[in-house]
Amino acid sequence: MPEIFIDNKRYEYEEPGKVLQFMLDHGLDLPFFCYHPSLSIPANCRQCVVKAGMPVFDRDKGAYEIDEDGNRKIRYFPKLMTACSLDLADGMVIHTHHTDDLVKQAQADNLEFILINHPLDCPICDQAGECPLQILTYKYGPEGSRFEHKKVHKPKAIQLGPRVILDAERCINCTRCTRFTEEISKTNQLSIISRGDKNYPMTAEGEEFDDPYSLNTVDICPVGALTSADFRFKARVWEMNQTPSIDVSNGKGCNTYIWTRDNLVMRITPRFNEAVNDHWMPDAGRLSYREYNENRISKPHIRLNAGNQVKSSWNNAELTFREELEKRSADKIQVIGSPHASVEDNYVLKSSFEKLGVQNFSFVPHVIPGAGDDLLLTDDQAPNTNGVRALGYAATESGKLKKLIDSKKPSMIVILNDDLMGRTDAPPELFEDTFVVYLGTNHNETSKHADLVIPVTSAAEHAASYVNVDGRIQRTFPAKETLYTNRRLNLEMSMGRLDHYGTKFDNWVSDANRIDCIPAWEFFVRISPDSDRPDWQSSRDILDQISGEVPLFRDVSYERMDDENGIQLKLEQDSEVNTV
Ligand code: SF4
Ligand code: FES
Repeated sequence: MPEIFIDNKRYEYEEPGKVLQFMLDHGLDLPFFCYHPSLSIPANCRQCVVKAGMPVFDRDKGAYEIDEDGNRKIRYFPKLMTACSLDLADGMVIHTHHTDDLVKQAQADNLEFILINHPLDCPICDQAGECPLQILTYKYGPEGSRFEHKKVHKPKAIQLGPRVILDAERCINCTRCTRFTEEISKTNQLSIISRGDKNYPMTAEGEEFDDPYSLNTVDICPVGALTSADFRFKARVWEMNQTPSIDVSNGKGCNTYIWTRDNLVMRITPRFNEAVNDHWMPDAGRLSYREYNENRISKPHIRLNAGNQVKSSWNNAELTFREELEKRSADKIQVIGSPHASVEDNYVLKSSFEKLGVQNFSFVPHVIPGAGDDLLLTDDQAPNTNGVRALGYAATESGKLKKLIDSKKPSMIVILNDDLMGRTDAPPELFEDTFVVYLGTNHNETSKHADLVIPVTSAAEHAASYVNVDGRIQRTFPAKETLYTNRRLNLEMSMGRLDHYGTKFDNWVSDANRIDCIPAWEFFVRISPDSDRPDWQSSRDILDQISGEVPLFRDVSYERMDDENGIQLKLEQDSEVNTV
């Protein structure tokens, strides 16, 4: 097998590749800025330099030349090489800063050079705490600066587009952002303008950077030159908890991190998953963080005889629900599941009503033809259409819900987290003589016209699974607390710096942002008769039950999803949602 020697240690490799990526894969550290594993390699930052050489091969003898110490003679390249663009070669010898002073000096000099005009505004920069320039300068940089002249000031806070702001003087011209728009989103909206110490990325005259994936450039900008207009100055990275999750704003289920502080979602960023979204996600998915914070339904609501909705207690809500159920026969009840809700919640909704003899189960796919693209946006606007379908709900097109209700004339409709009155052809008047129960996360047309509103946890507040448009089941973790959960007691919840070290005097810690809601499945456990109450303690128990009952989910578990980064299910051909 071909071999390579890095800092006097031998490694073998099978596949061709570049030295930097090989080192990163083996946990070896080497500083770099412009390299990104999913972009082309311009090798323009020069930070990843190494000393490289090849053994001298004597063709006549058919063997490597040997020096007086009995080692292979190495012929080093005349100059230091950029490891990001250097191909692995059999017998190659690499020296990094660990074993070569010239490399060490070159790295420090290069950092000094990059920092010539970079403003040292780390205390107010959004990137502070996760800035490679800050970290690498600390690790590899010079002690101070020898530059006495004034820094070149470039434009500050230029609104490049609706979502991205540029502080040009922080830019180190790595070209990651321009390569992203050329190679990944393919809008070509950014290019570097000007020369020398005056250059920075810009849009064409009169154009704006409105690429639907524009915020990915903020993630990959290694310094704080590109910032999110929305998130700028809002929070520091060390104040937030970072929880793995998935994007539930469309059918792709991009893997994400949810960043929370004081029970508010501050931002959503992509999490690498080669099988789903690589390093990227659409801007729309990031901006959906607002739905976790704003306009939330907190506390049950009941409509009084006078027609007004008032806040109510959980006891009263449960009692009302039971009473309304008892008033009517099973054939008068219509249950509408939701592609926006999890597999677990849809399963519990259906199984609870099946026990009562109800047979009318449907859901309305949320598909907008033409909304998708070839990258990560899908026509399907919901994260779990395939999951609901697999549980046996009949699909009703959004333009045919009115017909369904007209024909079945139910006297009670139970709707799980989906704004059907807002997005389908079924207007609120259609439901006037029907008792509508809405289990939802946010206020909308449907919650406004419901007779009983049960607030349920959002994808940021519960552990639950969703099947994406490609049939991959993936799950969320609770990222923010509700009124009834506690980060320290819930083992699924990650703990951050504030949880460990925060005190009651930290003014950003309060109970104000905790929503009074419970998981939808828990509501159905609460209203089950004592004699027939399932003993689920968590959504994990529910998925275990589903995996034993529903063929598509056989052998699926949270452990497997965690270990395998989601599980690809075998969808039946006709169960897939057409997202073309
Ligand atoms: S703005 Fe950021 S990503 Fe773009 S070239 Fe400058 S440093 Fe690189
Ligand atoms: S990472 Fe190699 S030159 Fe920039």
